[in-house]
Amino acid sequence: MFSPEGPSLRELAVQAMSSVEHGYDLLAPKFDRTPFRTPGPVLESVAKALGPLGPFEDGLDLCCGTGAGTELLAGLCGRSVTGVDFSGGMLGVARRRAPSSGPGVAWVRGDARALPFGPAFDLVVSFGAFGHFLPRELPGLFAQVRSVLRPGGRFAFPVFAPPRLSSPAYWTLLGFDTAMRVRNALWRPPFVMYYRTFRFGGVVDGLARAGFTVELRPLPEFGRRDDGSPRARLLVAGAQPAAGSVNS
Ligand SMILES: C[S@@+](CC[C@H](N)C(=O)[O-])C[C@H]1O[C@@H](n2cnc3c(N)ncnc32)[C@H](O)[C@@H]1O
Repeated sequence: MFSPEGPSLRELAVQAMSSVEHGYDLLAPKFDRTPFRTPGPVLESVAKALGPLGPFEDGLDLCCGTGAGTELLAGLCGRSVTGVDFSGGMLGVARRRAPSSGPGVAWVRGDARALPFGPAFDLVVSFGAFGHFLPRELPGLFAQVRSVLRPGGRFAFPVFAPPRLSSPAYWTLLGFDTAMRVRNALWRPPFVMYYRTFRFGGVVDGLARAGFTVELRPLPEFGRRDDGSPRARLLVAGAQPAAGSVNS
């Protein structure tokens, strides 16, 4: 899973004993050589599914890290691309590795739970970050995303079918989450990172309550499970006009 140039076990342990923000500051120089960076095939598949929903003007990559999603937005958005993350270390790497040609990206340090923007975007994407939010934080997070979207704008992210009880992946993720719960019961600051708390039903309800309509599109590149359901889908949440607003 990790290349020889990736973080050592000791470095990962130090990161995991820090806060989320500081942990990512520490991991940033080697982050792109870990499996935590969203891989190219996921980004390509999402870009392909989003293309027909455009054109888009202004895109935001929420919890952008070193810029995986901002690269995708650069190919989809005609006017501006912004990456927001609360780790200065991750943003520093993103800034250094951004291509010097093409549309410029604005890198903004900010907390996704209190976004420093008005309704300036028509597309928000996010990859690999929802495990850092507790279920009770999701309504606030979705309301923040809704508040930075223009009416009719979209919030999109990939969702993967959860591993089955009989698969090793199920037990690996359960083991990871259990270890994190023990760690967080014993140690401060907490490091919030859980794989099994971002549940599909709760997410769809939370998005609806924040003023989104939700649509799912299969990501065919990832194939289907034995029961015929897609292994991966793109969730596209459309921002409804706020109650009482008038469309001109
Ligand atoms: C696993 S990394 C994913 C980075 C990138 N999106 C990718 O797919 O490669 C999670 C990122 O979320 C950021 N993050 C976590 N909680 C955050 C919050 N409340 N506000 C802003 N960024 C946050 C971390 O700093 C980190 O850069």
